[in-house]
Amino acid sequence: MILVTGGAGFIGSNFVLQWLAKGDEPVVNLDKLTYAGNLRNLDSLRGDARHIFVKGDIDDPKLVAQLLREHQPRALVNFAAESHVDRSILGPAEFVRTNIHGSFNLLEAARAYWDGLAGEAKSGFRFLQVSTDEVYGSLAATDAPFRETTAYAPNSPYAASKAAADHMVRAYHHTYGLPTLTTNCSNNYGPFQFPEKLIPLVILNALAGKPIPVYGDGKNVRDWLYVDDHCSGIRRVLEAGRPGEVYNIGGNSEKANIEVVQTLCAVLGELRPAAKPYASLISYVKDRPGHDRRYAIDAGKIRGELGWQPAENFAGGMRKTVEWYLANAEWTRQVSSGEYQQWMNANYEARGAAA
Ligand code: NAD
Ligand code: TYD
Repeated sequence: MILVTGGAGFIGSNFVLQWLAKGDEPVVNLDKLTYAGNLRNLDSLRGDARHIFVKGDIDDPKLVAQLLREHQPRALVNFAAESHVDRSILGPAEFVRTNIHGSFNLLEAARAYWDGLAGEAKSGFRFLQVSTDEVYGSLAATDAPFRETTAYAPNSPYAASKAAADHMVRAYHHTYGLPTLTTNCSNNYGPFQFPEKLIPLVILNALAGKPIPVYGDGKNVRDWLYVDDHCSGIRRVLEAGRPGEVYNIGGNSEKANIEVVQTLCAVLGELRPAAKPYASLISYVKDRPGHDRRYAIDAGKIRGELGWQPAENFAGGMRKTVEWYLANAEWTRQVSSGEYQQWMNANYEARGAAA
């Protein structure tokens, strides 16, 4: 079996669902269920003995050691993190605790567990750290995309916390020989994404007839990858990646934010026609401090070494995503209550945008 952390969040839950759809190897899923974790994402696994959910913190040494001892996983895949840049700007402390110290705690527990293994169990064990392209910093319009050898230059507290964890993972391989793998992926989108992130936020605000907040001039560029493709990339790295190596995962879909927003408005207009064009709701608001201008990924290594490439393109993935949010109004209603409203007020009021 494998131990997954953060498997009730956006990417982690998609990963657990894909993992159990493709095979029968059980998953122990350790998640603290923060505001971003949601067991409803895993509703389709209710009563499925292959999925063991444990509510808990990756920063709890006793709990992690006990889970490793009890379940003897052949791999640990760490998705658990505070993941939202804007939240890291308003309150970085939790990012340091979970992303840095929590990852360190997982590494320590994994090292002790792995030290006690022998033979194939030892050589086959893997610690996979799910990371982000944001650790590489910001590119100018004409710069070459990030490669695995690009120097780290994180700019937000979120990116810095992920970079620190990546460095610890590297050190645990280099110093102790722990068989680690690191994946650095671009922006994900798809089902179950919490609507604080750009794509679901645009869909929900548009459907509610609320302003669609675009930071700055809307020309910041991100590379977008459909979440299923990220999950298949991680499965491939886990299966065949070389211990100690880093693999960049990307979608070959660089888009300016305003283009993403306009695409969403057009797809929504087609699938859920409204009296006024959704694009009329677009509202330029105060920029994010330190806003990285451009991210782009060179995914040549994972393509060349492991034969992975995305199955979905941007247009298809965006349509699927809009369709999913339209079909899952109850999910969005549930996650948009309570804490979410407080966040919307905290983040957008100061930007001069109505939440
Ligand atoms: P998310 O915020 O949707 O989910 C994070 C999950 O981790 C939640 O279920 C939360 O409850 C859990 N969690 C948080 N703190 C925890 C703790 N201390 N102990 C146990 N569980 C805890 O995040 P996501 O978008 O699914 O991202 C997952 C991972 O992928 C993160 O490590 C993130 O840095 C990385 N990543 C995300 C993207 C993206 O576009 N979303 C891109 C590249 C990499
Ligand atoms: P986000 O989804 O927060 O991901 P990240 O910051 O990790 O890339 O934001 C994606 C891009 O969209 C980023 O350039 C910031 C921008 N953005 C807006 O313009 N408006 C918004 O309301 C949000 C949340 C993001």
